[in-house]
Amino acid sequence: MAFVELRKENRLGIVTINRPKALNALNTQVLAELEQTLREIAVDDKIGVIIITGAGEKAFVAGADIVEMQNKSAEAASDFARKGQNIFRLIQDLPQPTIAAVNGFALGGGCELAMACDLRLASENARFGQPEVNLGIIPGFGGTQRLPRLIGRARAMELILTGRTIKAEEALELGLVNKVVPSSELLNEAVELAKTILVKGPEAVRRAKSAVNKGLEIDTNTGCELEATLFGLCFAGKEQKEGMAAFLEKRTANFIQE
Ligand code: HXC
Repeated sequence: MAFVELRKENRLGIVTINRPKALNALNTQVLAELEQTLREIAVDDKIGVIIITGAGEKAFVAGADIVEMQNKSAEAASDFARKGQNIFRLIQDLPQPTIAAVNGFALGGGCELAMACDLRLASENARFGQPEVNLGIIPGFGGTQRLPRLIGRARAMELILTGRTIKAEEALELGLVNKVVPSSELLNEAVELAKTILVKGPEAVRRAKSAVNKGLEIDTNTGCELEATLFGLCFAGKEQKEGMAAFLEKRTANFIQE
């Protein structure tokens, strides 16, 4: 693939958007390659955690490709938005947890890509924003929906209506990112975070992700019912037996049988 690279290191999958000349902007081809990569990951039980990042020092993803969007009809623009939304939905619905390692500009579709991930680490030089109003458009890859769910309606509204770009520190204050780290440490930190998750029970991790993400889209009672079902399923497998036995035997649980 030309623009999206998947590197597998043990049980970690690292996806890199690699189109640095256009600051990794998402055009049709990048999106298609991303979709293919995600579909491969979704069925790969050997991969336990995914990191998504951008190539180069400057950008995570600077948005959807403005050159490609410029002459779209209304219908084609809606189709493009739906296409991206569906692909970002695939990220949210991946069984494995996802970490966005935001290494620079995460604007428009780039911010939306980061928000589709479960966790976000930002380098000190990362910049976030939904600058679409500057272009006479609105966010189209889920930004109007995920940003208010992540940081609250008033703060999301401000960012979306002003198109203001914010620095990593402000993104941290707003709760848009989990942590800010020195640029040179970003990938290492993301890998360390991934490793912390990788030693847990893979089935439990998948169920926890699913309970949180699905629960946020339904009412609390239905979400708790889902939680109870998934909680019960944990007791039908090996992980709960190993985890609880290890605790009582005062040893570290070993969930991963190679
Ligand atoms: C296409 C882009 C691009 C983009 C940057 N480039 N962003 N090309 N689409 N989104 C290209 C530039 O045209 C330029 O190409 C090269 O990348 C380097 O960018 P520069 O602008 O020269 O860099 P710099 O001056 O450092 O400014 C960086 C920047 C700026 C602040 C990130 O590039 C910028 O504002 N980009 C647009 C950000 C944006 O508005 N994103 C939202 C897009 S709308 P050349 O050929 O000149 O070297 C969106 C909607 C999503 O994402 C939903 C769709 C349905």
